[in-house]
Amino acid sequence: MREKKIPLILDGDPGHDDAIAWMLAKASPEFEIKAVTSVSGNQTIEKTTYNALRICTLLGIDAPVAMGLPHGLLSEPFDAPSVHGQSGLDGPKLPEPAMELSPLRAPELMAKVLRESEDKVTIVSTGAQTNVAALLLAHPELKEKIERISIMGGGLTHGNWTPAAEFNILVDPEAADIVFKSGVELYMAGLDVTEKALLFPEDFENIRKAGNQVAGVVADWLDFFYQFHRSLGYPGAPLHDPCAVAVLLHPEIFTIEDYYVEIETAGEYSRGATVADMRGFEGPVPNAHCLMGVDREAFAKLLTEAVKAYEGRRVEI
Ligand code: RIB
Ligand code: CA
Repeated sequence: MREKKIPLILDGDPGHDDAIAWMLAKASPEFEIKAVTSVSGNQTIEKTTYNALRICTLLGIDAPVAMGLPHGLLSEPFDAPSVHGQSGLDGPKLPEPAMELSPLRAPELMAKVLRESEDKVTIVSTGAQTNVAALLLAHPELKEKIERISIMGGGLTHGNWTPAAEFNILVDPEAADIVFKSGVELYMAGLDVTEKALLFPEDFENIRKAGNQVAGVVADWLDFFYQFHRSLGYPGAPLHDPCAVAVLLHPEIFTIEDYYVEIETAGEYSRGATVADMRGFEGPVPNAHCLMGVDREAFAKLLTEAVKAYEGRRVEI
């Protein structure tokens, strides 16, 4: 008999790699997606929300979708058109949304899901931590209904948007600070692992070979995402966000180290840095399971197999 499904909230700023993370989640029978929430980051909240609706339509995710906050808790909106394009999800054509947006804002939809769920819920957060922090601030009593939060964000040794800070954390460091201090079990897929989670052009073609509509779109997303990273010298496309889903399915393919991680919210040069105590002294109890390495081949295989779950699905584009 199959074990109970893991109830999941997908929170992100899609985004090519967010979309591929959601593809993996929807393809995996281990999960039951209870809600999808957008956050501002890679593009404006209007664009990331529209993208979330289009991705859900493509993949057949029939959970409610709610719009997040238009900017960070204390910071101005950011965007990253160099990475994901002006739409936030440039590349292949996508279907128009087949579902309505929830009347609730993201933190309230998250709260509703937590309140109504019999089992504890896992949150996968692949953008800024704005919605999750707003949830924790507004509904501290619901913390105990969160099983764990699996985050793509940060980097223990370096950043990507600044030398010190990774993009998702830099977009809203105050929110990340609240989440990292929350006491909820955290998995942190930072640049330490995600820059090793590379997919190469031959992987894109293996994905395309599955032959279904979703496989074709995913291969095109990878092509687009790779162009930007190739211009920076990456040998492949770093699949940041799918790591936050993959670790829930196959922790054994990752090297995981526990650290006490703090978020730099001030810092003239280091705002948004994730500072881990790696000295090995007696110190604060670790607050994050930090992903440090990955079996790249196994990770690529996981994604290549996942697209096969969409055999027979076709929507009008
Ligand atoms: O730094 C990587 C993060 O920023 C990922 O979540 C990716 O989607 C990008 O926007
Ligand atoms: Ca993202």
